[in-house]
Amino acid sequence: MRVLGIESTCDETAIAVVEDGRKITSNCVVSQIQLHAVYGGVVPELACRRHIDMLLPVLQQSLETAGVLLEDIDLFAVATGPGLVGALLIGLHAAKALALIQRKPLIGVNHVKAHLYGALLSTQEEVRYPALGVVLSGGHTELVLLKDVAAYEPISNTVDDAIGEAFDKVAKILHLPYPGGPEIERLAMSGDPHRYRFTAGQVKGRPLHFSFSGLKTAVLYAVREGGEMHPADIAASFQKAAFEDVERKIFAAADSFGCNTIVFGGGVTASQTLRRRLEAKAGTLRLVWPTLDVALDNAAMIAGLGFQLYQKVGADNLSLDVESRLIWS
Ligand code: KG4
Ligand code: ZN
Repeated sequence: MRVLGIESTCDETAIAVVEDGRKITSNCVVSQIQLHAVYGGVVPELACRRHIDMLLPVLQQSLETAGVLLEDIDLFAVATGPGLVGALLIGLHAAKALALIQRKPLIGVNHVKAHLYGALLSTQEEVRYPALGVVLSGGHTELVLLKDVAAYEPISNTVDDAIGEAFDKVAKILHLPYPGGPEIERLAMSGDPHRYRFTAGQVKGRPLHFSFSGLKTAVLYAVREGGEMHPADIAASFQKAAFEDVERKIFAAADSFGCNTIVFGGGVTASQTLRRRLEAKAGTLRLVWPTLDVALDNAAMIAGLGFQLYQKVGADNLSLDVESRLIWS
């Protein structure tokens, strides 16, 4: 079964073709990073206009790369949320139009769940369930019990900023470009992670939940305090604090839920610093990472999970709507 996936939740217009939920035959992504960089974050109105401009060219490129025609597509999968509502509507209506014209089924896919599927697309080995799912992205910080390929039970999340959001905000404080994650990682390489004593927040009575807004504020105060500023040391100390926190909570959750395998998703998991750190301490745990092409926002993960959902619950109809919240169950 050939599935075409469409992703337009935020600032990437992406279209991919995936066969049987496994084989990626095209994975085209047009990023709007340059467009939003001057504003230090995504401007929804500009994002929508760019999605409209890029959707058809990306569709054409994706079909050409896969070497198929529109009539060869068996299922249209689209990210219906969470994300910017206007941006989501553009992808959704494109998918509806394509499904209607081609008389093929349509399926809506949750972007955050799809991030976990990115890792499943990246491994040839069988995954043992239940696994621990970990989503670290610009909009989400989630631990979830992955009971099967597409069956979830939420464990914990962030009570304020997402981890990627914290990286982006700290980058802004340090006058680094958007998106901040890769910039912080690069700058941190030449910094001393012990110079500043930053720690991520703990949530009272909920030991596996996350809180990053206090950490971001601590960085802001360190910068404002004046005196001699050491940006590389700030970046390194901040990154260490954020990763120390996720590492501890991930291993604690794997232990208490009896998971031997950990499945990662989301843009922050592109960090080599994070990967090295967790791999060094994984012991007998198996860590399943997304390859870089499916770690950051992409449509292959949408097409892939779309295939699995279609097998499981069948198609959606044309009244399918966007869903800006995340509901795991
Ligand atoms: O999953 P993603 O592409 O989009 C969302 O669904 O949010 O994640 C983007 C986020 C941004 O916040 C970006 O700063 C962060 O992932 N990111 C990183 C790194 N690469 C991207 N954060 C830390 N270290 C990195 N190397
Ligand atoms: Zn994402």
